[in-house]
Amino acid sequence: MTTDDPIWFRLPPAPSQVPARPPEPPAAAVDLVIDGRPVAVPEGQTILDACRGLGIHVPTLCQLDTLTPVNACRICVVEMEGARTLVPACSRRVEAGMQIRSRSTRVDRARRMVLELLASSVDLSTAPGLDAMMATYGATPERHGPRAATVAQPPLIDNALYMRDYSKCILCYKCVEACGTDAQHTFAIAVAGRGFDAHVATEWQVALPESACVYCGNCIGVCPTGALMPQHEYDMRQAGTWAPERQEATDTTCPYCGVGCTLTVHTQDDRIVKVTSPIESEVTHGSLCVKGRFGFEYANGGRPSTDDQPAAAEP
Ligand code: SF4
Ligand code: SF4
Ligand code: FES
Repeated sequence: MTTDDPIWFRLPPAPSQVPARPPEPPAAAVDLVIDGRPVAVPEGQTILDACRGLGIHVPTLCQLDTLTPVNACRICVVEMEGARTLVPACSRRVEAGMQIRSRSTRVDRARRMVLELLASSVDLSTAPGLDAMMATYGATPERHGPRAATVAQPPLIDNALYMRDYSKCILCYKCVEACGTDAQHTFAIAVAGRGFDAHVATEWQVALPESACVYCGNCIGVCPTGALMPQHEYDMRQAGTWAPERQEATDTTCPYCGVGCTLTVHTQDDRIVKVTSPIESEVTHGSLCVKGRFGFEYANGGRPSTDDQPAAAEP
């Protein structure tokens, strides 16, 4: 064999022969002012990143560090000097000379309005942190009248692993992104319809077992309202036994395969009640597969099978 042989016959170069990739040049710093405080942040960061760097809290609903910003909720708006409208901090990239106000009468009014409109039309009873957010901005949804009939609908329970309650959906698009290009690349769900008819749906509205869903549950992991919930948690909530104040969270490594995903195992009364993954994990970035997220029943002694049910009485 000679060096003129076709390329597919040649061995790859030894690691020592591979030229080292030159280090990435550091991103240029961008100078801006937030709430009167000068700050320099790397080019490409968002106003939200810059605020966080200064320890300034900006509320978010549709934003997650692992997902592409979609600007769906507008709870993160801030005031920018010279701009006619408020700008979304989660997606607007920093520019030199920006003068930002993270809180002002106008910002607070806009955030209050977003919260009131959401709460007047969506069931936010299982949305973590929403009560505190409402109190911060003085949101009183009752001002907008009774809940809109357009969103009231029964939960969809069509499989053993997770349920969907779209009366709790704020259409933040996070689940669609996690199911698509930002994590899972399964594309089992999308937003269908327009206006009041807009809703998250499988293809042709088929039940999950007939859809492309692979039950990774990554949509559940990003949902900010509890519209998507593991069936186990939903059942416990329905039975009145779900007690977060009695729960502990323990990080461990998934026992199922060599990827070694980090699991956060939530236990209550010495039983596993839920499995999530930390968004900071460099392996998972919060995502898991069906085994890691749902395959914990064996540790609890297994789910009762239909064989364990008492036999139906003879007629
Ligand atoms: S189901 Fe949850 S994650 Fe999906 S759009 Fe609705 S609120 Fe967002
Ligand atoms: S969650 Fe899935 S991919 Fe990750 S280690 Fe467990 S079995 Fe493997
Ligand atoms: S968090 Fe910025 S638009 Fe939703």
